[in-house]
Amino acid sequence: MQERSGAVRPAHAIRSYVMRAGRITAAQQRALSELWPRYGVAFTPRPLDLDALFGRIAPRTLEIGFGNGDNLLARAVRDPGRDFLGVEVHRPGIGHLLLGAAAAGLTNLRIIAHDAVEVLQRQLADACLDEVQLLFPDPWPKKRHHKRRLIQPAVIELLADRLRTGGRLHIVTDWQPYAEQMLVDLNACTRLERAVPDQPSVDPSAAPSERTATRFEKRGERLGHRIHEYLFLRHA
Ligand SMILES: C[S@@+](CC[C@H](N)C(=O)[O-])C[C@H]1O[C@@H](n2cnc3c(N)ncnc32)[C@H](O)[C@@H]1O
Repeated sequence: MQERSGAVRPAHAIRSYVMRAGRITAAQQRALSELWPRYGVAFTPRPLDLDALFGRIAPRTLEIGFGNGDNLLARAVRDPGRDFLGVEVHRPGIGHLLLGAAAAGLTNLRIIAHDAVEVLQRQLADACLDEVQLLFPDPWPKKRHHKRRLIQPAVIELLADRLRTGGRLHIVTDWQPYAEQMLVDLNACTRLERAVPDQPSVDPSAAPSERTATRFEKRGERLGHRIHEYLFLRHA
């Protein structure tokens, strides 16, 4: 179906990824079967009780599209008082994170292996999150693929629904045209307010934000790309 330019695409119609076969190591494959029961959460079309899932009440971060889980693992290790939920569809990356989580003995991490849009729509309740991170979401550079970008109005509204008042939405990209588009869409959401201005050439080691340099951040840096970092707060 041809999209009219400027038409708002409904969230359920966004296909932001293609399932890549990808090479999976024997250890990652084993982790998917042996460690999944410890950290994995099956997709179900009903809102999760996160207090029951984590067995406590604590601040909660959702990372969407965590890739290899570099950031999620580092943050969960650094901050045992916070619970972390990761959503990803790339099985080798999930296996990689499972191995790291078990090696670190984490108890504050859970993983959902499913389309994040559907998880947001159906498996997460309103105002259940204190923070959402999206680090280097796929830029889908070709114009005909822009409709596949995760950060677009319908998903931003969903994210605002799922964040608590005062919650943080943190998005980082190295793809300038995507950064420009997402800033327009984020500014258009009346429930979100920009917390810090975009900073040129953020050095990740010095970045004030809560994140660890990921594989795609390092790739962007090697290519000489400027890193765009957006932090928005959910207001009442
Ligand atoms: C460019 S990679 C970035 C990975 C990681 N955040 C990093 O910075 O290295 C984007 C990731 O988002 C995942 N992804 C894209 N759309 C998704 C969706 N709808 N649900 C879950 N994961 C998704 C992809 O599988 C991929 O691993």
